[in-house]
Amino acid sequence: MSSYYEDLAPGSGCREPRAWLRSSRPRMSLNGRWEFKLWSGPAEAPADVMRPDVDVDWDELEVPGHWVLQGHDRPRYTNTAFPFPIDPPRTPDANPTGDHRRWFDLPDDWERDGAVLRFEGVDSCFKVWLNGTEVGTAKGSRLPSEFHVGELLRPGRNLLVVRVHQWSSGSYLEDQDMWWLPGIFRDVTLLSRPLIDDVFVHADYDHLTGAGTMRVDVEPSSAQITIPELGLELQAGEKVTIAGVEPWTAEVPRLYDAQVAVHGETVELRIGFRTVAMTDGLLTVNGQPLFFRGVNRHEHDERRGRAMTVEAMRQDLVLMKQHNLNAVRTAHYPPHPAFLDLCDELGLWVVDECDIETHGFIYTDWRGNPADDPDWAPMMLDRMRRMVERDKNHPSVIVWSLANESHRGRNFGTLAEWTRGRDPGRAVFYERDRSYEFSDFYSLMYTPLEDLEAIGTRTEDVPPETEDDPELETRRRGLPFVLAEYAHAMGNGPGGLADYQRILERYPRLQGGFVWEWIDHGLLLPGAIDHVYGGDFGERVHGANFCIDGLLFPDRTPSPGLTEYKKVIEPVRITGPDPLTIHNLRTFASLDDLEFVWSEELDGEQIDAGRLEVPEIQAGSTAALPPPVETQPPTEMPGDERWLTVRAVLAKDEAWAAAGHEVAWAQFRLGGGSAEDRHDAPSPPQPEAVVSGGVQERGVGRGGLGRVVLGVGEFEGSTGRLVRVGGVEVEGPELDLWRAPTDNDCGQGGRNGVVGEWRAAGLDRLLHRVDGVEVGQDELVVRARVAPDGLGVGVRATYRWVSADDGLRLTVEVEPEGEWGGTAVSPRCGSWPRVGVRMVVPSNLDTVTWFGGGPGEAYADSREAARVGRYTSTVDELQTPYVVPQENGSRIDVRWAELTDAQGNGLRVEGAPYFQLTARRWTTEDLERARHRSDLTPRDHIYLNLDLAQNGLGSASCGPPATPQHTLEPGHYTFSLTFHQFGRSPGHAVGASDT
Ligand code: GAL
Repeated sequence: MSSYYEDLAPGSGCREPRAWLRSSRPRMSLNGRWEFKLWSGPAEAPADVMRPDVDVDWDELEVPGHWVLQGHDRPRYTNTAFPFPIDPPRTPDANPTGDHRRWFDLPDDWERDGAVLRFEGVDSCFKVWLNGTEVGTAKGSRLPSEFHVGELLRPGRNLLVVRVHQWSSGSYLEDQDMWWLPGIFRDVTLLSRPLIDDVFVHADYDHLTGAGTMRVDVEPSSAQITIPELGLELQAGEKVTIAGVEPWTAEVPRLYDAQVAVHGETVELRIGFRTVAMTDGLLTVNGQPLFFRGVNRHEHDERRGRAMTVEAMRQDLVLMKQHNLNAVRTAHYPPHPAFLDLCDELGLWVVDECDIETHGFIYTDWRGNPADDPDWAPMMLDRMRRMVERDKNHPSVIVWSLANESHRGRNFGTLAEWTRGRDPGRAVFYERDRSYEFSDFYSLMYTPLEDLEAIGTRTEDVPPETEDDPELETRRRGLPFVLAEYAHAMGNGPGGLADYQRILERYPRLQGGFVWEWIDHGLLLPGAIDHVYGGDFGERVHGANFCIDGLLFPDRTPSPGLTEYKKVIEPVRITGPDPLTIHNLRTFASLDDLEFVWSEELDGEQIDAGRLEVPEIQAGSTAALPPPVETQPPTEMPGDERWLTVRAVLAKDEAWAAAGHEVAWAQFRLGGGSAEDRHDAPSPPQPEAVVSGGVQERGVGRGGLGRVVLGVGEFEGSTGRLVRVGGVEVEGPELDLWRAPTDNDCGQGGRNGVVGEWRAAGLDRLLHRVDGVEVGQDELVVRARVAPDGLGVGVRATYRWVSADDGLRLTVEVEPEGEWGGTAVSPRCGSWPRVGVRMVVPSNLDTVTWFGGGPGEAYADSREAARVGRYTSTVDELQTPYVVPQENGSRIDVRWAELTDAQGNGLRVEGAPYFQLTARRWTTEDLERARHRSDLTPRDHIYLNLDLAQNGLGSASCGPPATPQHTLEPGHYTFSLTFHQFGRSPGHAVGASDT
């Protein structure tokens, strides 16, 4: 007979699943310090562990918690692979087994009869004893289990013992891409006998009449329900219609407090009236088709793993609301129940996903996949029931998701059928069965833009799964589409969010999507300074840093990807400037909660500002206003830039942000001919785009010791390298085509990535050869060839220096040579990482002020959030601290930048008109070599990259690469930069002490 952790029973001795309820009945939290002992496997664990006098040398552990994050054993990360042999439902002998035990005192007046012991989540299988007697067993890590314990409780001291096995038959259903984190990781509570066993609220909203209908099913049916605010009292099971209720939506999350009472117990509910329906091939709520601006959220805390605190849950939701997100998919299991309360309260649409993923069967070619084996149906259905029953009263939950990435299987039919029967008031979702037989949605992940466009127009290819079944195919093609996952936010990126959004918004069939994913799963182990990821323990099978792919860093700081997403999905779009048009992209709410403010800036300095009078704009409507300033004034001084910035901010405090919080914005360039909006700068440029400046007459002279002096510039005679600009010591600008590859450059297992071809073309090892230094009357020309060893490809670089406006102008011409398009033996290189120059300046020039895009990092296909302005930062603050170091920190469309020391002296660089600026205290090579943040040690210089352009980011770490439009092709480029020394004391030897 197989053991309870290897059999196919979901558990033993458990109560029937029911709703998570806030009850007035006494309860006792059993969270806190427990005794703990880890065994290498069940064979080693003592059979008499339930005895109070068992001979165990107990350690201590915090519950809820994971023992692997508290110094016992270590966490393990795999993406798809099971970290044990695939032999379902068997587990390995080496099955870490943690015995947990806790003494607790029960007050004499505690009513023991009928008491229930509740576990909100234990990973992955456990057995419980109370006062020496076995209570039951359970599996299903991210789901609650309840046991009757009344007869076993004693007044005074009680001993609770819980044995947890890391691996069980259930683990075959829990192969989500995440850390394997065993333990009692959610609350443990002792409840006195529930008098109200279960509650199921059915609260609909009729958008045509504005009436709510309500029925509350209760066990027992003698219960009374009151909703004081509506003056309503009704019986369990009684259906009522209430005129004029306010509906619940994620935009206006209106909740009504209600009480369900029987003699001796009151349960507090928060009811939201809303109706979910599939109408004319679309998911609607209250009659309106929804549009998801969503994100996939795992539960993750850098120190606590999935043992989340309520504060961290709230922080997640507040950050989501502040960044314009309106939907969350609980990837890939039901979250802590408190999270859904917060979603009801703050307003998020929720796709609640069941704790099922059998992804690792990909390595048996899906042989033995539980999803298609009827023997596993009870265990799968048990999970679905426990999720639906627990979460059924949350208005925020509008879709039940059967599972993630578990291939096709009949058991999903069983799950879908049961779910529809139990809860006809919500939609059902499953992505991975390409027939979509059991799903109300067509859905894919990481879909390329052209495929998305085809889906929008219902012209997508027929999937093999429905090829031979015209009826099923017709049904599938009629379904609405949701991107279950897209825009893989691994490392620097994702690129292309705006491109996705344009298509998603264009076609009604596309109901939005969920970015992968919310937070980096970097873990900080006790005493560590770096976040760990797969492979950090020398394990052979692991998923490397594929779990470091969130919009938040592990400490919940937003990454530039989240700032970009916020801009791209803003629910108010402002176009103009004449007229200024405000589009309300919301589904339900007007814009009355917002205030519109504007400012006019000249060269980044505000010269005027005010408030706009905006009429009421209903959801889906627009209003056109006259611009608040003259948009076509007489031309400004050459070079001056006038911008109008319009911002939509919260007019009053909301639960998730204070009045003044910015929701949306737009900028318009004014004057000097036709007004342009901020996206007119081509980026990256096409080859042959020539940007250059005029030559100014200044004499060139030979300095001593082989030095050449040109205006404020001093050059090394033999190499033509710039060594000084006025008093600033520099190491001359040199052509640079390389960047520290991003995760998205690398692609997934080499697929889609560009790094392979970059390395094959030797871009990571370019050597510079000076072919000539020509000292002319007014200019210095340096000709060089930049090429990798071992290959015939290269580029000719011509650096042309002239003295200009007290400064020094450099024009760089780049001309490719050789077979960049590929040969019979070498692959084509379709892009370059960057085209620009790198140069070295003294380390004390560490304050950076610039006029251009900011304040954050931006790249060709991730630049919507960059607005034109004048910014000041430090070199250290310009770094984006990706958990795995990689190219970062670029500021885009920079007109000029000044690097200054503490005295205000420094170096100024001007573009013609723009450049892309990166400054750091380490080299690109240092960045490329580093595997963790602490591998980066500041050197005693600052390294600048001044680029004409960089290649786009794309999201090829799990998705498509940068689009052709954002690809920096090898080609002929020319660009100019002008250098000035400036400061309060011209001629002062800036940085001399550092070099
Ligand atoms: C999806 C999967 C996620 C995650 C993501 C890549 O296929 O559902 O769990 O693995 O890819 O990070």
